[in-house]
Amino acid sequence: MSNILTGVKHRVLRIEIARPEKKNALTQDMYREMSDALAAAEADGAVRAILIHGARDCFTAGNDLKDFLDRSRDGGPSEAFRFISALPKLAKPLVAAVGGPAVGIGTTMLLHCDLVYAAPGARFQMPFVSLGLVPEACSSLLLPMVAGYQRAAELLLLAQPFSAEKAHAAGIVTEIVPENQLLEHAHSQAAALASLPPASVRLTKQLMKRQLAAPIAAQMQEEGRLFAEQLKSGEAKEAMTAFFEKRKPDFSRF
Ligand code: COA
Repeated sequence: MSNILTGVKHRVLRIEIARPEKKNALTQDMYREMSDALAAAEADGAVRAILIHGARDCFTAGNDLKDFLDRSRDGGPSEAFRFISALPKLAKPLVAAVGGPAVGIGTTMLLHCDLVYAAPGARFQMPFVSLGLVPEACSSLLLPMVAGYQRAAELLLLAQPFSAEKAHAAGIVTEIVPENQLLEHAHSQAAALASLPPASVRLTKQLMKRQLAAPIAAQMQEEGRLFAEQLKSGEAKEAMTAFFEKRKPDFSRF
């Protein structure tokens, strides 16, 4: 059974991440399905906005760490890269509803969303450095822009989890919404976007994004190059092995 569920209601395509037993960690298949869903939404005149969400108590634990370990060995092409590359190019508005953990790409993808709603208990984290990796999805460019350098440096370098309030103050979250209203509110905002004149919505989004298209693409390439290099590093292997062995990683020998 697929771990990505989709459906269209009120001209909004809903993409639901549904792999609860692994905290919605994203596998290559799940990225592929999400990329395909985004491409289909872009091509479908009946869809005018996209909503992405997870479970009420878990958005996503980010990239599947076993998949990272496998990729460090085979170095194969990444469906994750296809997914993150599609995000800044989306012509239609993208709305996110975030409850519970939003780790790694669970946070960085939000920088490409047009509206982000979070429950008070949402917990964000970009643990790339603590995993021996580097930031992805252009977060190393976009986060300093939206949050300011010092705030971005704290979140990306120390890589600690942070609250919905802090995400809101950093400009990652549009609004904090009570948990029991989160999905309904995010859907109604997406439906509101879908009811507006579609060309106007598309052109306004395009105008806000056009200056950044080239720098975003260039930064993603550079992040991707360094990410692939770091994925093969001893630091990354130690960090991910430690996660599955449920112990603290030891970076003292690097
Ligand atoms: N990749 C693979 N499996 C993952 C995972 C991930 N990113 N995140 C969680 N899981 C698995 C756990 O291994 C565990 O599996 P098990 O039941 O077979 O042991 C299960 O999901 C539940 O996770 P657990 O850690 O027990 O849940 P929690 O509620 O205590 O913590 C998180 C939730 C998200 C805070 C925690 O799982 C976590 O930090 N995950 C890693 C996040 C990460 O580093 N992602 C990569 C970002 S680049």
